Amino acid sequence: MKVLVINGPNLNMLGIREKHLYGTETYADLETFIREAAKRLGLDIELFQSNYEGAIVEKIQEAYGVMDGIVINPAAYTHTSVAILDALKAVALPAVEVHLTDVSKREPFRQVSYAGMACRARFMGLGFEGYEKALEYLKETLSGD
Ligand code: DQA
Repeated sequence: MKVLVINGPNLNMLGIREKHLYGTETYADLETFIREAAKRLGLDIELFQSNYEGAIVEKIQEAYGVMDGIVINPAAYTHTSVAILDALKAVALPAVEVHLTDVSKREPFRQVSYAGMACRARFMGLGFEGYEKALEYLKETLSGD
């Protein structure tokens, strides 16, 4: 099972950005965490991070016919990007949304999730663990499909 894990804008600044919200671990630490979780679950993963909406759209498109599922933290694009929503709908791969923080308890503008409308599940407020839960969920989903 091949899973594409996408992280959106400013997640490369983990460890530097708003530590009270996102903690002190870095994006490299997050990559290590995800790789180890995927290994435990026996999933083949590809990690991708970009600060560009179009690059994320293209990566989702490239997953068509190649990947079995997608885990995505679209970061700020969660709340703005119909293009990412449309890309997820276009490839129609099982997708799971992740947020490090609990966006439901944050500012009103974070209450909309466009990408989430094309996702089967959402894990938020669990920090890095959310990615592990998303991978576990996808593994179960893909096994059952
Ligand atoms: C985030 C939440 C978003 O609202 C924010 O723009 C991010 C990170 C999270 O992981 O908690 O950049 O997706």
